[in-house]
Order: sequence, then structure tokens, then C-alpha cells
Amino acid sequence: LSSAPPLQLAERYFQLYPEESDPVWGNPCDDLRHQKIWSKNKTCDQLPRFLVIGPQKTGTTALYTFLSIHPAISSNLPSPDTFEEIQFFNGKNYYKGLDWYMSFFPASKNESSRYLFEKSATYFDGELVPRRAHALLPRAKLITILLSPARRAYSWYQHTRVHGDPVANNYSFHSVITASDTAPKPLRDLRNRCLNPGKYAQHLERWLSYYPPQQLHIIDGEQLRQNPVETLHELQRFLKITPAFNYSSHLRYDPKKGFFCQVTNEDRTKCLGKSKGRQYPPMEDKSYKLLQRYYLSHNTALVKLLKRLGLRTIPQWLKEDLTDTV
Ligand code: A3P
Repeated sequence: LSSAPPLQLAERYFQLYPEESDPVWGNPCDDLRHQKIWSKNKTCDQLPRFLVIGPQKTGTTALYTFLSIHPAISSNLPSPDTFEEIQFFNGKNYYKGLDWYMSFFPASKNESSRYLFEKSATYFDGELVPRRAHALLPRAKLITILLSPARRAYSWYQHTRVHGDPVANNYSFHSVITASDTAPKPLRDLRNRCLNPGKYAQHLERWLSYYPPQQLHIIDGEQLRQNPVETLHELQRFLKITPAFNYSSHLRYDPKKGFFCQVTNEDRTKCLGKSKGRQYPPMEDKSYKLLQRYYLSHNTALVKLLKRLGLRTIPQWLKEDLTDTV
């Protein structure tokens, strides 16, 4: 019996099985054969127990910041490129491998009482993300925040304007969302980034084809904004974190910011930066009406999905988005 050198062998293997050339990382400790060849210096504990999956512009930074105040919860270390988000399961970072991902989660002596998590808002609508996340973290809990998809789209548009995107600065929001499929590519790309993540039911179904519904927790973005204390208490119950941390003395509404902020002392608060909770003119009525119609089938599917998941109350924004759409 003879064998080619490893590299040639690998090349030959992937010629025979090209569909396997895209890796899917699993947890080495879940398979005895993998565990045996896993270095003694490495652990399998440096992985998150829950993921905040987004979507973008729904209040994910506020949730991330408030969770980080919790004494039993630790977030990942910041990334030099994408700041608080690792963005591992979507995009090119995935090919950097498991060691790279785990290096964002520092090992701690007190593992059992510590809840590691990461928040990457781009996970929500990433095609490959649920499959990849499930292969590595099948028992992880998933947290998503939903907000009126029309308002989310508008917030994204405003966000790209402030970031100096020439398309967003040259086209009105209405022209972006009504851009046709023959429009220039940069305009179509912006339109898609505004509109696609808001097709909530479609994306959630993809997650639910990998994860059981019991592992998914949906936060109403309006509730997070108006009553983060209650939202975080509910989340702790879902995550079964005991003792529960009382957020009421740690978060306070800041009238100047118009949002809840972290209490730093008696009369001081620390709010999120100026890029979160921006001031901009309200959306034009014609754009909102158009988006109500655009999202009608998606929002109808979302109501069905939420009912199937046993959600007792349908968010107010969803009821409003579904009224007067004719
Ligand atoms: P706007 O800036 O359009 O108002 P994300 O962090 O996912 O990008 O979401 C940003 C949005 O979070 C903001 O959008 C804001 O409305 C919302 N948000 C919710 N709670 C907030 C808080 N406590 N402070 C700042 N923004 C908050």
C-alpha cells in the first residue's frame, strides 16, 4: 500500500469531492477522533453560549453594551477590523479557522458561571451562517431583534449616508428603495442592503431549519428601546442566568440622548456614541406606504411564524405595518 505526500493527496481528494472544498468547522471536542488529535494546549470552551445575530440597525449595539454590564456575561474581545463584531460565520473570516475564532474568547478560570457571547449583526441574513453556526455551536442560544423592516431600511440608509457613501448621498431614500433591476450596480446593492434583511420570516425560517425553536429568542426592538430593563430581565430568564442581575439601577433614560444609557454614577450616564440613535428627518409618507406594501407578504408570514413559535403578543410595529396597506 502506498500513499502520495499529504499535499498531493489533498489535491486529489478535492478533485474527487469538489463540494467538500468549502470547510464547515465543527467542535473538535464533539468527536472523539478529532479530540484525540486536538493539541493538549487547546480547549474547546472558548466558544460562545449565545449569539446575538442581528439584523443590523435594530439596536444590536445597545443590547451588546447592556449585556456587557452583566457580571456573569462576557463578550468577545474587539476585532481590529470590525470592532465589537467578529463576523466569523459570514464572509472571509470563516476561512481563518477555529483557532482564530476562539482567540476572541479569553479563557477564564470560572467557566461555569460565565456566559460568553458574541454579537455580529450581519449573521441574521447571511445565507451560509445558520449552517455554519450550527455545525460549531449546535447548543447555542440565538437572540434576534426585530423592528419595523421599513424603519430598519431607513435607518440603514441614514447610516450609509453618514459614512459618506456616495450613492446614499446622491439618491433620496425613495429613489433607492424604488431602484429597478436595471439600475447601476452600486444603487442596486444599496437597495438590497436596505430591503433584504427586513424579510424577517424568510431569514428566520433558514435559522429554524437548523436550530430548534426553543433555542431562539426574539426581542421586540421597540421594547428594547423603550424598556430595556424589562427586555434584559426577560432575556436573562430565557438564558436561565441566575442570580438575575437587576438592570433597573444600571440603565436610565437620558432625555438629551432620547435613549436609555448606562448609569455611571448618581447623576451621570454613558450613552452609545453619536452613530447610534441619530437625529434625521422622518421618513417620507410615500416611502413608508410603499414599504408597507413591499413587506406585506413578508410581514404576514412573520405573524404566522410568531404564532407558530407561541409568541403571545404580536409587536405593535408589526400591527401598524400591516394596517392600511391598500
Ligand atoms: P438609529 O441611529 O437609526 O436611531 P444597531 O446598533 O443595530 O446598528 O442599531 C442602531 C439603532 O439602535 C439606532 O438606530 C437606535 O434607534 C437603536 N437603539 C435602541 N436602543 C438604543 C439606545 N439605548 N441607544 C442608542 N440607540 C439605540
